[in-house]
Amino acid sequence: MRRPVIAGNWKLFKTIGEATTLVNDLKVRTAGITGVDIIVAPVFTALSSVATATVGSNIRLAAQNCFWEESGAYTGEVSASLLKDAGCSHVIIGHSERRQYFAETDATVNRKIHAASAAGLTVIACVGETLTEREAEQTFVVIETQLQGALAGLRSDAVAGLIIAYEPVWAIGTGKSASEAQAQEVHAFIRSLLERLFGLPVATAVRILYGGSVKPETISGLMSQPDIDGALVGGASLSAESFAAIAGYSA
Ligand code: 13P
Repeated sequence: MRRPVIAGNWKLFKTIGEATTLVNDLKVRTAGITGVDIIVAPVFTALSSVATATVGSNIRLAAQNCFWEESGAYTGEVSASLLKDAGCSHVIIGHSERRQYFAETDATVNRKIHAASAAGLTVIACVGETLTEREAEQTFVVIETQLQGALAGLRSDAVAGLIIAYEPVWAIGTGKSASEAQAQEVHAFIRSLLERLFGLPVATAVRILYGGSVKPETISGLMSQPDIDGALVGGASLSAESFAAIAGYSA
């Protein structure tokens, strides 16, 4: 059985103080939740403080991006090993906002995934189609291209440890979640693609999260789908009450 993952992507929100307050509140609200990996992804500047606050809790820490080089003359970048140093166990790579605003491509996503895996971070690799692509019935083509590009050259054992997030761009921040059936259809496609590329044991092991306007009211239905193993939550992760309700969906 795949262990469910509920991850909160805080995007460009919260000061160090606000992030610490939020995670302290979350710690209390999620203390009784077992059987779910709970992850939060604050901005870089808050990572270290949130890491300190989560010591001894069941909350894990993710960064929202990393660079592929370990160190060097790369002004403004942060490497995977420095994220580990700051207390991260996970890193989100290839979010659609990075693809849209920061020229992230399947090739750069691939380099980052290699670097993060080598550093021992668990990668949350994001894929997802735009509305135009969905309406042109290109969803599966887009997902296949993104996934093949992202995972190129990775060994099967590295892929088995990955988390993949399917986030349809049209559902992010719009309040318009994919339906359970729409999400399940793409998740099943991703799993079949993983089987084709890396074999059944890998496809069975990889956890595939849905992201895009997930709310406390929608999480149970999504989690009832056979290939949906968790959620990557944006807006609803910024409040301890709603994120804890999502993480405690099975209670
Ligand atoms: P929303 O939950 O705000 O739609 O954001 C989803 C997302 O982009 C998570 O990475």
